[in-house]
Amino acid sequence: MKDIAVIGVGYVGLVTAACFADLGNRVVAMDVAEEKIDKLHQGIMPIYEPGLTEVVKRNVDAGRLSFTTSHADTIKNARFVFICVGTPSGVDGEADLQYVRQAAETIAQVMDHPLIIINKSTVPVGTGDWVADIVRSKQPRPIDFSVVSCPEFLREGSALLDFMNPDRTVLGSLDRDAADEVAQLHLPLRAPIVVTDLRTAEMIKYASNAFLATKISFINEIANICEALGADVKEVAAGMGLDKRIGKMFLDAGIGYGGSCFPKDVLALHHMGIAQGQKPQILEAVMAINSSRRHQVVAKLRELLGDDLTGKTIGLLGLAFKPNTDDMRDAPSITIASLLSEAGAVVKGYDPVAMDVTRQVMPQLALCKDPYEVFAGSDAVVLVTDWNEFKQLDMIRAKASMRQAVVVDGRNIYDPAMMQEMGFAYRGFGRGYSGDVKLDG
Ligand code: UGA
Repeated sequence: MKDIAVIGVGYVGLVTAACFADLGNRVVAMDVAEEKIDKLHQGIMPIYEPGLTEVVKRNVDAGRLSFTTSHADTIKNARFVFICVGTPSGVDGEADLQYVRQAAETIAQVMDHPLIIINKSTVPVGTGDWVADIVRSKQPRPIDFSVVSCPEFLREGSALLDFMNPDRTVLGSLDRDAADEVAQLHLPLRAPIVVTDLRTAEMIKYASNAFLATKISFINEIANICEALGADVKEVAAGMGLDKRIGKMFLDAGIGYGGSCFPKDVLALHHMGIAQGQKPQILEAVMAINSSRRHQVVAKLRELLGDDLTGKTIGLLGLAFKPNTDDMRDAPSITIASLLSEAGAVVKGYDPVAMDVTRQVMPQLALCKDPYEVFAGSDAVVLVTDWNEFKQLDMIRAKASMRQAVVVDGRNIYDPAMMQEMGFAYRGFGRGYSGDVKLDG
């Protein structure tokens, strides 16, 4: 059993705290947001993540996990301090490090014994060294400490599973003994451990997210070409993915990536490159392709409903940026709803878990009580989030309730032939061309 402190109970911090406690460690997690900690004391999670409530409860009951708003209480008995605070996009896409700075300064002020400070927040390359400088300069008296970078690779919606079954653990530090100690903490996860210097570990995180985002934009570009030439991108992706060098994951074409990670991290990596005099051309293309996907939804609706969308009722099926989460950060639904409203359409929507969050971020959006209400009276429905519960809807019933039977499938979850057979005017992304194919020569 090790003593661990976790600073920041957002997505990463709460999952990290709960999972390390579940592995048998004693974890004290803190956050400056009192209402979050109050809720956690009542067993209410600040985020929706499958399985999290149960794991937190189990470990709180067993006395291995507790929550506080005090930095001093968190660190009192800890050997390891995980910094898991947010790093939102700041000016020009540069990561905003104010919360990391605050955490480092406070650790320095309250620490009274040697610590290993582990950075899990996604931070620009060089931040680990910067954190070490801050701690050194703010300590009232010199006490030993080391900084280790340990980037997270958790996906929202499957974060607990990802934590417990990682493909790898990356540890970056100039202090080999500290890295070894942190490696011991991760041994029960039985994953390969990659030990590097601080900056390399920080770059592995950005390069990994940027590569996955690149895969998505790549397949979306292929989808456009498929659409023009009459090929089916789903089958193209399946055929490509069987090549082990390519792999089948992250080749789902559609309305592109959103969320709190890919958009922010690709932009931040781009910013780092520009700041060093580089021209990150692939990253620029990745961002441009991704942003155009959301506009394509409106273009497809215009193609099917006519140029003027004024007064047309459009329903959005799914609002969260992906299934199994209530996270709406950079969710495609927000851009699509606002483009449609600007075009004069009446927009309504439904999500299985993100309704409360939607009320805060899109208060103007009319909310439906279930998926069928999204179809009822609509001129078109856009499938935005590929929740499982949307995959087996009674489409005959849905169609009968619509004003016009138009569906734009932003995640390619429906079968185009079946939808057309049922009488829908249906558009997926890259699912063959509906008119004449123009071939050169
Ligand atoms: C992503 C990474 O997958 C994690 O490894 C990483 O730890 C995390 O960011 C982070 O940096 O914290 P996450 O943003 O939770 O995780 O979600 P993903 O499953 O990666 O999906 C991101 C977006 O890409 C979603 O909007 C999803 O709908 C979209 N996507 C994903 C596609 O459009 N096509 C695909 O083939 C896959």
